[in-house]
Amino acid sequence: MGKENGLKVLVIGRGGREHALVWKISQSPKVKEVYCAPGNAGISEIATTVDITENNIDALIQFAKNNQIDITVVGSEAPLISGIVDAFKAAGLKAYGPTKDAAQIEGSKSFAKQLMKKYNIPTAAYEIFDLKEEAIEYVKSQKTPIVIKADGLAAGKGVIIPYTHDEAFQAIEHIMEEKALGEAGNQIVIEEYLEGKEISLMAFVDGETVVPMITAQDHKAAYDNDQGPNTGGMGAYAPVPFVTDRDLKQAVEKILVPTAKAMVAEGRSFTGILYAGLMLTAQGPKVIEFNARFGDPEAQVVLPLLKTDIIDIIIASFEQRLHEVPIIWSHQSALAVVLVSGGYPGKYQTGFEINGLSSFKKKDPRNLIFHAGTSYQKDKVFTASGRVLAVTAIGDDLQSCREQVYSNITKINFNGMYYRKDIGNKALNYL
Ligand code: AMP
Ligand code: GLY
Repeated sequence: MGKENGLKVLVIGRGGREHALVWKISQSPKVKEVYCAPGNAGISEIATTVDITENNIDALIQFAKNNQIDITVVGSEAPLISGIVDAFKAAGLKAYGPTKDAAQIEGSKSFAKQLMKKYNIPTAAYEIFDLKEEAIEYVKSQKTPIVIKADGLAAGKGVIIPYTHDEAFQAIEHIMEEKALGEAGNQIVIEEYLEGKEISLMAFVDGETVVPMITAQDHKAAYDNDQGPNTGGMGAYAPVPFVTDRDLKQAVEKILVPTAKAMVAEGRSFTGILYAGLMLTAQGPKVIEFNARFGDPEAQVVLPLLKTDIIDIIIASFEQRLHEVPIIWSHQSALAVVLVSGGYPGKYQTGFEINGLSSFKKKDPRNLIFHAGTSYQKDKVFTASGRVLAVTAIGDDLQSCREQVYSNITKINFNGMYYRKDIGNKALNYL
């Protein structure tokens, strides 16, 4: 297919993950035009941004129809959990991602936990509570540290790990009584604390076919050495050198494949990106959480290493022939550090001008800047959210990526800019 009569693709979302998706999709020789709703400043440089928010499903359908969009790729979780894929299908349109029923694997931690229990998928032992008093009684009978999670979506901030019983009681009050996370806190999951190294393993899935991607590691805590509150993710790298072939084999055979099969057996066949947050424990990999889409910032380091045309993968998944597509990975590494607004994940200000981006304008396949929360005003780029930019480098090894990223960061600044200085240390200390 030539570019003139190529495909029109719409990506839904506005973060660094969507910038990486748009960037990757634009490289497909099958694609003529890429749109992104709502997008951000960086995305608007390589695609047509559309002023419709992720959750305005009716308006997105109307846009897709009016503009003859061939394929819509859903980047973020909220519209998936609301049923955007089902709504597009009902309107005769193709959207890549899990249906509403399948996206429950991310949308409800209690659903995911019950599924794992029923199908013997290794995860932390857990109990679910609707009542604060029962949750408190249960905690008294358990050892600490212990893990307390709000059931619904909380943008990566719904998990508290108390180290004492008193802290645990306070956390339960905070979520269930004060409703600090809103309705997500109506039900809580209390689970066993898993000890080990944490990795992200994502896979392309269509029904029972599972094709794992290369491994990545996120850095969720706000400050260096994994201190401070949890965020959406402060940086990532891929692949992860300390994951052994045995870990990977177990993760695929005992976790990813059985989960895809379980979803089919439950009548919730999953198509799209299945993300397993895994703890590599002494007893093998165990699931911390599932997501129903690419990780952010994992997508920013994994997609640049994918050699296969992602459009081929997506089209094959629509036709349930993912098993026919050879999926090939680069042997290089990638590392991304997220620059955030001072104060994130707590209160922060936006609207500050970002300086230094022009030095990255020239096309350089080794140095990428994926925008997360940015917007254009006239010709200038301003901060627009907590996570602002993911400064990313691709190179022959993690050490050189890391040096490149931290050197590139010195060229960028905005009021209150903050970032972790230790992204990649866990891998490099191991090597
Ligand atoms: P989640 O939103 O479920 O991914 O949890 C956020 C973070 O909390 C994870 O990335 C882990 O670092 C940590 N965490 C969650 N569950 C556990 C667990 N059972 N044991 C140890 N750490 C956990
Ligand atoms: N980086 C973790 C996530 O996307 O949920």
